[in-house]
Amino acid sequence: MPNSRPDSITITRPDDWHLHLRDGAMLAAVLPDSARQFARAIVMPNLKPPVTLTSQAAAYRQRILAAVPDGLQFEPLMTLYLTDNTAPDEIRRARDSGFVHGIKLYPAGATTNSAAGVSDLAHCTRTLEVMQELGMPLLLHGEVTDPAIDLFDREAVFIERVLMPLRRAMPELKIVFEHITTSDAAAYVSQSGGPIAATITAHHLLYNRNEIFKGGVRPHYYCLPVLKRESHRQALVQAATSGSDRFFLGTDSAPHLRGAKEQACGCAGCYTARHAMELYAQAFDAVDALGQLEQFASFNGPDFYQLPRNSGTLTLRRQAWTMPAELPADGETLVPLNAGESIPWKMA
Ligand code: NCD
Ligand code: ZN
Repeated sequence: MPNSRPDSITITRPDDWHLHLRDGAMLAAVLPDSARQFARAIVMPNLKPPVTLTSQAAAYRQRILAAVPDGLQFEPLMTLYLTDNTAPDEIRRARDSGFVHGIKLYPAGATTNSAAGVSDLAHCTRTLEVMQELGMPLLLHGEVTDPAIDLFDREAVFIERVLMPLRRAMPELKIVFEHITTSDAAAYVSQSGGPIAATITAHHLLYNRNEIFKGGVRPHYYCLPVLKRESHRQALVQAATSGSDRFFLGTDSAPHLRGAKEQACGCAGCYTARHAMELYAQAFDAVDALGQLEQFASFNGPDFYQLPRNSGTLTLRRQAWTMPAELPADGETLVPLNAGESIPWKMA
């Protein structure tokens, strides 16, 4: 069959609506990878200690800007880490700052550096009401932490136990259901009324959970929420390429040094910032939907966050290259997703 698919695509410069940049030497190592592709990114606040105050976000923002390589334009969109004790006034300060664009809910214990997260949303009612009033988005790590719930069901159960009651109580609260991984979440977001959207990672569009266990346990494919079965992956691809304005790009690139991943109790997180747009191009191309990539990567996110779309463009070509086996970071090494593998698309 003749291949009529395009060999290159140029889109408006994209943004990453969910990114872990870390701090210090790791920040310096990973930031250039994101800044080469993305004009802006929603920066996760799960540092140690977490970014809970607008003043801390201001200082972190300055450290990020100082790490942007000469000649690249990159704007960090900051977030605060919601705790049981976040004061309503902190939300007002965040809104007034102009640089805080979301408040992140980590259920306590759900993932990396989430110990200080929310133990019960009932503690946050007043704070959430102020967010609703000011149009400050709530960014959700949407998994329950109940150890009785199967790891693979934690997102679906979160919808019933947390998200639906929350949205009934606060129907105007702007919500981003981040890094969705299930057909349940995709269906919930596309069918809901009101201000809710979702981000989807490249790795959840490309892989199912078999990838974690191919030929042995492969820690670099372990992230949270964990990869799910193939039917879920297909539902995510359908949602991302559907043309719906409720789904947009969020890499959840989450760097950990090699030693933290390759050990008896390895950290969750995949490093995809190096080749994020190339992976998204591969995923969209696989279902002949490259024509939908710009809306997903460059339009839906800013529209939802009520920010201007970017000017400038990014071009991707069908041109295979090999991802290095490891990348230098902090005097040690970082193993990217797809280490040593061939990547079919390349950024121009
Ligand atoms: C993230 C990290 O390492 O900070 N890990 C991950 O697997 N995605 C935390 C998170 O977003 O859950
Ligand atoms: Zn994340």
